Amino acid sequence: MTMTRVALISGANRGIGFEIARQLARKGVAVVIGSRDLDKGRAAAQLIVDEGFTAEAVQLEITDNTSILAAVGTVVQRHGRIDILVNNAAILVDGPGGFKSSLFDLQAETARQTFETNLLGPLRLTQAVVPIMQRQRYGRIVNLSSGAGQLSDMRIGFPAYRMSKTALNALTRITAAELAGVDIKVNAVCPGWVRTDMGGAEAERPVEIGAETPVWLAVLPENGPTGGFFRDQRPIPW
Ligand SMILES: NC(=O)c1ccc[n+]([C@@H]2O[C@H](COP(=O)([O-])OP(=O)(O)OC[C@H]3O[C@@H](n4cnc5c(N)ncnc54)[C@H](OP(=O)(O)O)[C@@H]3O)[C@@H](O)[C@H]2O)c1
Repeated sequence: MTMTRVALISGANRGIGFEIARQLARKGVAVVIGSRDLDKGRAAAQLIVDEGFTAEAVQLEITDNTSILAAVGTVVQRHGRIDILVNNAAILVDGPGGFKSSLFDLQAETARQTFETNLLGPLRLTQAVVPIMQRQRYGRIVNLSSGAGQLSDMRIGFPAYRMSKTALNALTRITAAELAGVDIKVNAVCPGWVRTDMGGAEAERPVEIGAETPVWLAVLPENGPTGGFFRDQRPIPW
């Protein structure tokens, strides 16, 4: 009998996070949809259950450590383990100007809010889940980053979002380094430009494609990579 893997995905009530949950469920993973609005999370989980797969929801607000600890505690209580953590939830609130929004107009409050969600949320979740993965001697952590965070291709526009994703990449590298030698793989991924509320209607990719590489990283074999940054299942520059 093969063991059922358990995945916790933040911000999985919609967008790429939901599609990651759906694709993992289709692979036989028991998925737990993290959603700050539990009703929205339950509705999303029901769509996967209606397909005949295993899904449920937990309340998860990633800027609130109490919510994080409660969510992780609930998953462990129900399943006894967490094999996969997908740090997906994030915000893009750089405001008017979009690709042209200037660093010189960036409000400290916008930067603070963005870092609180896009960096400290994944940090808190990682801190809560890693002890469970260490106990199991198994884990896969996938951080939804972005080409917008690549230092090698840094440009103007969305400055708070860009800096938060560069910092998330650093978090990825440090976490992977701390867990070297254990079968816990930690990787960052750019899903490409994806049609969601965040990506907008002009984006080139459907969620089905955007979720593919995160899902691949979530189920890596023991000889798979760790501490990497990927798009379309290939390494990309930091
Ligand atoms: N779309 C793209 O083109 C693109 C490109 C590169 C990288 N990414 C990255 O891919 C990931 C998913 O993006 P997406 O396009 O699917 O975004 P999205 O459509 O805007 O969905 C964001 C999700 O995150 C949740 N969320 C936001 N703040 C949260 C918080 N404080 N606590 C809990 N949940 C929170 C939202 O919940 P609510 O429904 O409650 O708001 C929602 O479920 C993000 O990390 C994003 O930066 C996206």
